[in-house]
Amino acid sequence: MKIISRRDFLTLTAIAGSSIVLPIALQNRGYAQNGKSQTVQPFTLPFRTPPVLKPIRSDRTTDYYQITMRPARVEFFTGVKTAIWGYNGMFPGPTIKQRKDRQSVVRVINNLSRSTSVHLHGMASQPQYDGYAEDFISPGYYKDYVYPNNRAANFWYHDHMMHQSARNVYMGLAGMYIVQDDAELSLPLPKDAYDIPLIIHDKQFASDGSLIFNDQGQITLMGDVITVNGVPWPRMEVANRKYRFRVLNASISRSYRLALSTGNDLIVIGTDSGLMSAPVTTQDMRIGTAERYDLIIDFSQYPIGTQVVLQNLQLPNNDNYDNTDKILRFDVVRTESDNSSIPSTLSDIQPIPESSAVRTRNFSFDLQNGLWVINGNGWSRDRIDANPQLEDVEIWNLEHDSSNSFHLIHLHLIDCQILDRNGQPPFPYERGFKDVFYVGENETVRVIGRFRPNAGKYMFHCHNIVHEDHDMMSQFQVGQGGIDPLSAPPRRLPARPL
Ligand code: C2O
Ligand code: CU
Ligand code: CU
Repeated sequence: MKIISRRDFLTLTAIAGSSIVLPIALQNRGYAQNGKSQTVQPFTLPFRTPPVLKPIRSDRTTDYYQITMRPARVEFFTGVKTAIWGYNGMFPGPTIKQRKDRQSVVRVINNLSRSTSVHLHGMASQPQYDGYAEDFISPGYYKDYVYPNNRAANFWYHDHMMHQSARNVYMGLAGMYIVQDDAELSLPLPKDAYDIPLIIHDKQFASDGSLIFNDQGQITLMGDVITVNGVPWPRMEVANRKYRFRVLNASISRSYRLALSTGNDLIVIGTDSGLMSAPVTTQDMRIGTAERYDLIIDFSQYPIGTQVVLQNLQLPNNDNYDNTDKILRFDVVRTESDNSSIPSTLSDIQPIPESSAVRTRNFSFDLQNGLWVINGNGWSRDRIDANPQLEDVEIWNLEHDSSNSFHLIHLHLIDCQILDRNGQPPFPYERGFKDVFYVGENETVRVIGRFRPNAGKYMFHCHNIVHEDHDMMSQFQVGQGGIDPLSAPPRRLPARPL
């Protein structure tokens, strides 16, 4: 039924020549403007950061963590309770901070009434710990995930349940996971209280505070409330110095074009998979779902009392509501000395030469007969769409021939670099290692990467999670064999001691 109505709807909008999402978006906007949906005046709620999760125990090589997925009622708005499904009952979940080359074992207990799969996005996990969409934790079960932490970067953990990830992440199942190494820690960048995660995620609330999940007929999900670390449009008091912000777009579908209201530059120091070789300045930048950018904002140029809004400039195929052009506000309230600096060399990463690639593969991302597909196919556990050998370098040509949508293409396991987009160099701020690639309207993006360090089956998909669920997801197989993703199934509770 849904497929037929969606197809009719698409035909209708094609005739009207307008954006796919416009009619429903207008309906939503009416809903918000009638005062029926729950919202708040931007920049009235205080900024906060998610708590850092302490290990239950540690030994010489490994830290052991435990997280329970459970329903909870939390306050997005003062005095209004909203039902969520959260890691430890929070949205976002607690942040895990780890050191490179220490191992993590994260036990995840499912006290929800639905199945989930937990993926640590960006980590080169073994296949049985990668949150394979069909390796799900049923209610009343738990699973111990093992993570090698073999590079320093900003990761995030989130639900990856077959066909259900959008709803599960929307309801709260997402959190940040930061790995640091000695090289990064030895740099004079802002640290500790000046090194802050910004997890951006849009939502829509009914007047009673409950979450509205509206994927516009399995097309896309656009909230009218922008949250940062679970707070709608927070206000953050800052000192007149440099801060480091680890920005994660944890939205289901929405992308943002970040810019400062003062017109000053954003200083980009890192991409999805770690620090860039050198800092890059930009007036504005787009960040699609699942992308991470490490930014420095220098507030020393502002007098005390200055208000600096992190804005969201327009991007096509993202629905606008009254306040979706803003994200958060920094209020410069105090003077502090600043001994941090931004070194001109941040890391020793090198471009992967195009000549090192042993083959090129083409993948096209389309809407066909009401389903989002890759080379015409949806997900099948039994189909493998690429079989690079271990250590092979390949070029993947990611093609999108439509102006009605955009895609954020994510490869599990590996990090890649963008060679070009429509034949042009990538944006300067994209010139680091990444695992998510913004394939915008009528864009073809060529990426290059080395398939390592593990053999086995890994998923790749669009990270607009509505697209991923229906059914823009496939898998590649590195080398021969490898560990079966279903070989470490979740166990029934009660759990044995960790
Ligand atoms: Cu962020 Cu396959 O996921
Ligand atoms: Cu991933
Ligand atoms: Cu997509």
